[in-house]
Amino acid sequence: MNTDRAQRLEAIHRMFNEAFGGEPEVTVEAPGRVNLIGGHTDYNDGFVFPIAIDRSVMICGRRRADRRLLMHQPAMGGSAEASLDRIEKDAAHPWANYILGVARELLDLGCALCGAELTVHGNVPIAAGLSSSAAMEVATATFFEALCGLAIDPVEVARLCQRAENSFVGMNCGILDQFVSKLSTQGHALMLDCRSLEYRHVPFDDPAVHVVIADTGVPRALIDSPYNTRRAECEQGARLLETLLGRPVKALRDVSLEAFRSVEAEMPDPLRSRCRHIITENARVLDAVAALDRGDLKRLGALLNESHVSLRDDYDVSADALNLMTDLLRGLDGALGARMTGAGFGGCAMGLLHGLDEKNVDDGCARVAARYRERAGLQPNLFTTRAAAGAGLVNAEPRRDGTR
Ligand code: GLA
Repeated sequence: MNTDRAQRLEAIHRMFNEAFGGEPEVTVEAPGRVNLIGGHTDYNDGFVFPIAIDRSVMICGRRRADRRLLMHQPAMGGSAEASLDRIEKDAAHPWANYILGVARELLDLGCALCGAELTVHGNVPIAAGLSSSAAMEVATATFFEALCGLAIDPVEVARLCQRAENSFVGMNCGILDQFVSKLSTQGHALMLDCRSLEYRHVPFDDPAVHVVIADTGVPRALIDSPYNTRRAECEQGARLLETLLGRPVKALRDVSLEAFRSVEAEMPDPLRSRCRHIITENARVLDAVAALDRGDLKRLGALLNESHVSLRDDYDVSADALNLMTDLLRGLDGALGARMTGAGFGGCAMGLLHGLDEKNVDDGCARVAARYRERAGLQPNLFTTRAAAGAGLVNAEPRRDGTR
């Protein structure tokens, strides 16, 4: 276990002890994610290609004899309480709703949950487009699985966590974030078909490739409403394409680039550009997976750049800060490509660098940070990540798959 994780583990156990006394029975963690490519394709039944990052939400806790849930998250300044017999939204502690929503979904599935006292500790930046919410949901599900001895198919876990976010928290997200947080394996990117939920782990562990995450410092405020507008535009676009093509179009996934090109002139904007983004982005994901399979990093980087342009111009979900940050990342020596990641409207950009040692990567990030500060007047946060493992128990011992 690396020092950072060992320290976090020690810290969360100390916080648990201060809050509840004694030791927790189980400790789990679930990672945040960065999407390499496949922006906004998930809720169009399309393809995505993310990695889990080496930042996570940890939860430790133990059983209670009654049906109460005592939740403690020192970083959010508080403690919350609920009963498993009557789970309601907690307006005073929004962070607790991720836990409560997942508990309710587990109960709805008929899982025998027990009361628990638990402490939460995360180091995934919040509201930065790195899926701290999904990490919290997946950590909660993984915690109850371990604590109550549940055996749930991991794909089902991802789905129930998405349902918790949609129906309890109230954010109408797709399946991307929860899926990658639960099902990733270390050293691999995850290629997911969001319609069939078939997936493949694609090796992504070349030590010469560095993934840089660049938080613009612009919080993704008010994201829900433009996100929902985009979802509605895609559904409208699919209905229009169905009429124009004269065949069923359940989702934009069902339209090939060729078919789209044949009728796009007849579509009004912005529907035409929204559809163009989704349809070209799906093709780019498949192209990116093939490029990585054959070790063509240059092509992968070029696809990242194209994805950014499409998200910026056609899908209109970028922001000045993200455009500036991706430009700066692209200007670095060894840059393969860069794009905004997550839902957009602020949050993080990501870039791939090739052939540099750690020192050169750090120097490059420092230069980007200085230029960004100068030009945007904002304090960014740049760091690198490796493709991390999905959710699991945290032990001092390596996990069975050898990843920790
Ligand atoms: C957010 C959502 C995901 C996905 C991305 C955009 O992260 O939670 O489901 O739609 O935006 O790719």
